[in-house]
Amino acid sequence: MRQPLVAGNWKMNGSRASVRELLDGIKHGIAEVGGAEVVVCPPFVYLQEVQDQLAGTAIAWGAQNLSTEGSGAFTGEVAASMLLDFGCKYVIVGHSERRSYYGEDDALVARKYAVARAMGLVPILCVGETLEERETGVTEEVVGRQMDAVIDLEGVEALQDGVIAYEPVWAIGTGVTASPEQAQEVHAYIRSRVAGKSTSAAESLRILYGGSMKADNARELIGKPDIDGGLIGGASLKADDFLAICRAAG
Ligand code: PGA
Repeated sequence: MRQPLVAGNWKMNGSRASVRELLDGIKHGIAEVGGAEVVVCPPFVYLQEVQDQLAGTAIAWGAQNLSTEGSGAFTGEVAASMLLDFGCKYVIVGHSERRSYYGEDDALVARKYAVARAMGLVPILCVGETLEERETGVTEEVVGRQMDAVIDLEGVEALQDGVIAYEPVWAIGTGVTASPEQAQEVHAYIRSRVAGKSTSAAESLRILYGGSMKADNARELIGKPDIDGGLIGGASLKADDFLAICRAAG
């Protein structure tokens, strides 16, 4: 049995005051969440606050990015060891915003995935197609290529107990959610692609859906057999909305 996982991707949002308020709200409601694992991914600068507030609670936390390098002269970068220093368990890699705005390609994302795992972090590998790619019928090709970058570098074992987030780019922040059937189809494809190489990795792999997931569509999405939770952007910035999704998953 795969434990459902709901991760909040705060992106570049928040202030000290709003982060404190959001964490208070999530802590307050976490007892009613049930069986889902709950994770928040703040901007780096708020990791200290998150660690201070969430240590000893059932809520885990992570970062939104990491460097491939261990330490040294890499201005502006943050190393995996630093994330561990602040108690991170997870780290998002290959989010479509990093791929499209910061030029992260499959090879770089695969290296970030490998470094995170080697350091004992759980990388959340984001994959997903653009609207144009969906309309031209290459969704599986794109998602397959994004997955294979990791599998080719690290072997399929890298996905044992791993986390992939399927985030169709056209659904991120747009209010347009993939239908449960559309999402399930791609999730099943992802799992079957892994199963072709390792059934145990495929069974252990948690595949999250991301892209305008909200309290009112979460239950139906997460009810699908291959949807094991969600990666939540906008709706993770309000405690009530986020908790409602966590309850739906739990
Ligand atoms: P959204 O973002 O929920 O605001 O669509 C999801 C994500 O980008 O991870």
